[in-house]
Amino acid sequence: MSVTIKSQREIELMREAGRILAAVHEELGQAIRPGISTLEIDQLGEKLIRGYGCIPSFKDYNGYPASICVSVNDEVVHGIPHKDRILKEGDIVSLDAGVIWHGYHSDAARTHAVGTIRPEAERLIRVTRESFFEGIRYAKAGNHLNDISSAVQAYAQRFGYGVVRDLVGHGIGSHLHEDPEVPNFAQKRRGIRLQAGMTLAVEPMINMGSAAVAWLDDDWTVVTMDGSLSAHYENTILITEGEPEILSLR
Ligand code: MF3
Ligand code: CO
Repeated sequence: MSVTIKSQREIELMREAGRILAAVHEELGQAIRPGISTLEIDQLGEKLIRGYGCIPSFKDYNGYPASICVSVNDEVVHGIPHKDRILKEGDIVSLDAGVIWHGYHSDAARTHAVGTIRPEAERLIRVTRESFFEGIRYAKAGNHLNDISSAVQAYAQRFGYGVVRDLVGHGIGSHLHEDPEVPNFAQKRRGIRLQAGMTLAVEPMINMGSAAVAWLDDDWTVVTMDGSLSAHYENTILITEGEPEILSLR
């Protein structure tokens, strides 16, 4: 599949998918506290998404068993919610969710503190979010994809963090994953030229230690190889001739 330019009608639908997902994330963020299980987060998320008249896009995607990916501490992404996984004070938790509104997708992730966390963990969460905003400064018609990728990497590495290379962002639209791939690290080639109407999910995954990751035996959960903390921040964005529009953020 090649990179598509969305029509005004498609953009409107993606705006609504994004608005709803932003609201879902805000409500999920308010539910995060010591004592909640990762399964309860998933159940709340699914209820919220369906309550807005959307379909949770992750549910059954390639066999993924839940609506919200809930990844704790050294889990990078795609953690599987479980009733016995209880969040405790000092944890960090990444929530990744996607919704479908009238056939169009949005995809976004946030990392939250559980109660009070170490200042180093706060900084990891903040820098991961900032690396997204640093990247999208270059997300503009006429620039190249690698401008975004390089900027994310350069920013996160200034803090000595490991930028995950085994998973990447992606185009998004009538499918959750469309072309192009959106790496969070510099490529040898400058990549496609960005055009107004492209929609991308930009999603830095940043480790406090090394960039190396491994897959658990559940075939989903991605963890840091060195056991260090990992944070994730993602939004669905629309490329324009000027500033990008962040569809999944209020
Ligand atoms: N946001 C994730 C991504 O872009 C989606 C999780 S994959 C799923 O890859 F299987 F969990 F849905
Ligand atoms: Co994504």
